[in-house]
Amino acid sequence: MKFNFSKRVPQNDDDAVGSILKAAVDPKVISLAGGLPSPDLFPVKELKKAADEVFDNDGKTALQYGMAAGYEKLREQVAEMTRKRGIECSADDVVITTGTEQSIDLVGKLLVNPGDTVLVEKPTYLCTLDVLRSYGAKLVGVDMDEHGMRMDALKKALDEHPDAKLLYTIPNFQNPTGRTMPNARREEMEKMLAERNIVILEDDPYGKVRYSGKDQYPVKHFDHTGNVIYQSSFSKFLVPGLRLGWIVADPAFIKRLVPMKQSTDLHSDNLSQYVVSRYLAENDIQKHVDQICALYKKRAETMMKELDEKAPKGVTHSNPEGGMFLWVKAPESVNTVDLFKECIKHHVAFVPGAPFYPGKVTQGTFRLNFSNADSKTIKIAIDRLCDALNEFMKTTSK
Ligand SMILES: Cc1ncc(COP(=O)(O)O)c(C=O)c1O
Repeated sequence: MKFNFSKRVPQNDDDAVGSILKAAVDPKVISLAGGLPSPDLFPVKELKKAADEVFDNDGKTALQYGMAAGYEKLREQVAEMTRKRGIECSADDVVITTGTEQSIDLVGKLLVNPGDTVLVEKPTYLCTLDVLRSYGAKLVGVDMDEHGMRMDALKKALDEHPDAKLLYTIPNFQNPTGRTMPNARREEMEKMLAERNIVILEDDPYGKVRYSGKDQYPVKHFDHTGNVIYQSSFSKFLVPGLRLGWIVADPAFIKRLVPMKQSTDLHSDNLSQYVVSRYLAENDIQKHVDQICALYKKRAETMMKELDEKAPKGVTHSNPEGGMFLWVKAPESVNTVDLFKECIKHHVAFVPGAPFYPGKVTQGTFRLNFSNADSKTIKIAIDRLCDALNEFMKTTSK
């Protein structure tokens, strides 16, 4: 059968990221490629207890169809957590989704027509690029520095693309760079986009996982017109497998979002929602987050120290205050897709920078994940990576 796929489906067979991740599953390879939270701290026992109680007390309701916007009690708990982060909201402003990934897809579905201009950080989360491309977005990358999106670059992009419809940002511990935008930039960004009637999609899956520095307000905190859509999820500070995220937005957006969510999957898994709600009611989530932060801090510090000691001259890395990633920059002469192949021979893997760019790629870049390997494994992995880098840079500079 020859399928006549829609224009949303990529027309070529290239799956650069898929083949990278495939190469990294060899058990001999230490993979610093994925974006997995550490399972060492999954609260398995507590979630089992919550699940048992849900089956015992609410089994028939939890296993029934639910509301498209989500389980009311969980929406209230999410609204309370969100208020603590500095966003005024109630349960009515919250829609539970099947992870942030679905939130991005729903926002794309609601706002992006083929040919619409969407501004994104350069580089940014590669799956968002795929989602936006599938809706036909014209992607425009905005330059960053060590403190996230640069406001002069944003202003220039807005002047050049006055028709821009949406801006996508990850202000905390950005994927892939680990960078964080300071409050002043967030406020300025919000002001500039509100003045031009452009929507901001603020993606904040990592915000709670801060292990140094000071919490910054979400961009939505500065929102006075309703143009910021805020989203987060339980993936990075509880577990990703239950697939639960949420959107907090203006009532006018929520009103259109709920029927679109309903036409996508009716609602997110009801049982997961009941279990997480009960878990949150019975456990101190902040205490749990503190444990995650302490573990990731140690792992990030180990990785940075190893890189500082062993990486060849000219190789630098970001210095994140939270999240799960380091962004490494080698000289631009280093093609990191070729370096990746060399690293696989040394039994270590990362994600090359190219797929994170909406357009022109800055060469020499790649992403390392530090959350999902213990310190001993990180040391071995960085040893292997630096050996490969040293060899690669010697041969390519000849
Ligand atoms: C920036 C960003 N947004 C969204 C997601 C998807 O997360 P979720 O598990 O909530 O769908 C990820 C996952 O790595 C991410 O890094």
